[in-house]
Amino acid sequence: MSEKMPQFPESYWLDSTDIPSYPKLEEKKQTEVGIVGGGIVGLTAAYLLSKQGVKVTVIDASTLVNGTTGHTTAKITAQHGIIYDELIQHFGKNMALQYYQAAMEAKKLIETTIRDLNIDCNYQVEDAYIYTNSDDYISKLETEKKAYDELGINGDLTDEIPLDIPVKRALVMKEQAQFHPLKYLHRLIKECENNGVQFFEHTVAIDVEYNKHPAIITKEGHRLLCNHVIVASHFPFYDKQSFYFARMYPERSYVIAVKSDQKYPGGMYINAESPTRSVRSTKVDGQELWLIGGENHKTGQGETTIKHYEALQQFGEEQFGISEFQYRWSAQDLTTLDKVPYIGSIKEGEDSVFVATGFNKWGMTNGTIAAKIFSDKIVHGKNEFEELYTPSRFHADPQIKKFATINADVAKHMIKGKLEITNDTIQGLSTDDAIITKINGKRAGVYKDQDENMYALDTTCTHMGCEVEWNSGDRTWDCPCHGSRFSYKGEVIEGPAKKPLKQIDLSK
Ligand code: FES
Repeated sequence: MSEKMPQFPESYWLDSTDIPSYPKLEEKKQTEVGIVGGGIVGLTAAYLLSKQGVKVTVIDASTLVNGTTGHTTAKITAQHGIIYDELIQHFGKNMALQYYQAAMEAKKLIETTIRDLNIDCNYQVEDAYIYTNSDDYISKLETEKKAYDELGINGDLTDEIPLDIPVKRALVMKEQAQFHPLKYLHRLIKECENNGVQFFEHTVAIDVEYNKHPAIITKEGHRLLCNHVIVASHFPFYDKQSFYFARMYPERSYVIAVKSDQKYPGGMYINAESPTRSVRSTKVDGQELWLIGGENHKTGQGETTIKHYEALQQFGEEQFGISEFQYRWSAQDLTTLDKVPYIGSIKEGEDSVFVATGFNKWGMTNGTIAAKIFSDKIVHGKNEFEELYTPSRFHADPQIKKFATINADVAKHMIKGKLEITNDTIQGLSTDDAIITKINGKRAGVYKDQDENMYALDTTCTHMGCEVEWNSGDRTWDCPCHGSRFSYKGEVIEGPAKKPLKQIDLSK
């Protein structure tokens, strides 16, 4: 790890906001809408519902906004990569247009909320750019521009962008936006409290049971009786045999927050090719903090994770010059088979349990529109965008191929992990490092912390039995199959796994 780089990951958003804490749910409760997950979906839905007089309770397995929402790049844009030509091909012009309109509706909802509640959250209107230096992507950007024209999207092709980096071609979408997501959500939490919303943290939901109405069951066995349940836990904690894990793939990406002597020229940027590079800035005490992101890869797969931060650092140093390195953090995103999120009834015909997942890295707009759809469905029975996102959709050709690819990749990793032979031993293990070894003839992962304490775990993922891999950047064990993540002590950080990794007693 480079000397300049902070030793531990920490999100700037989380570090610069004082989010209140809430107690654990310790008893049976009744509410109208039970929301599992205190990120942008859960909190926006709680705000929208409670201001219309609906009784809402939000529970979170960890603390509010500590998941993907606290680790985003927080771009509020309908420019979700190169997507509109593909959407027209797969869904037709009307659906593609709806996708754009939904994202713009989400942007408008965020703007209106900021205005209504007078929120100081560094909201700024910015143009969004996709740029490329690869000849292969020039024609893709040109085709995407034709899709913009067909859909009436305000955008242009250009050979120059305000950011001082080499570019062969770029596609701009005008008047998008960015903000400080947690300053925004912090105010929403306060407003929810004023509207009577109850929050419970460190409350793990493990199931939904049905009687006349659904009840969320917590790990401690408490029941939250509801008329409606919103599953907003990133990976759905409950899927009613709908196999969401086989219909999405998880990716990790990285962000570094640095200062540069260069003046930030405005705008939000992402390249079209791999490795991904994303750039935006935010003002901190009158100075620009540059957020440089990217290096996406499938969870639990690829090179040592710290190398991804180093690659971003190298990019930042070469292109802009880094005068000060302030933060580094990473996020996990889920992408669906056709890149359109799953938002709606958890299963066809089920109208009391809703799910929102698979935001394909564009959680600010997709998460906000999910919340709007849920609040409209619950209060008015319908929303104009609900059909587009229906989780039970399954249009034939392109998705089936993708489905097969995702699951073949899972099978490959399932076998690869089991066959992996390692000769490493714990005797040679340095502090703050981990190895895969064998203990009592079984594959085991051992991490040694800075005080020389060792934590040994059975590396078999408790979801479906793949073998987890060490993530050195975040000090976690990550599963290459469906993206479950575990702390070095074995606790579940991210599903679909629900049970911790088995601890191994090294003294025996
Ligand atoms: Fe499915 Fe690990 S997440 S096997």
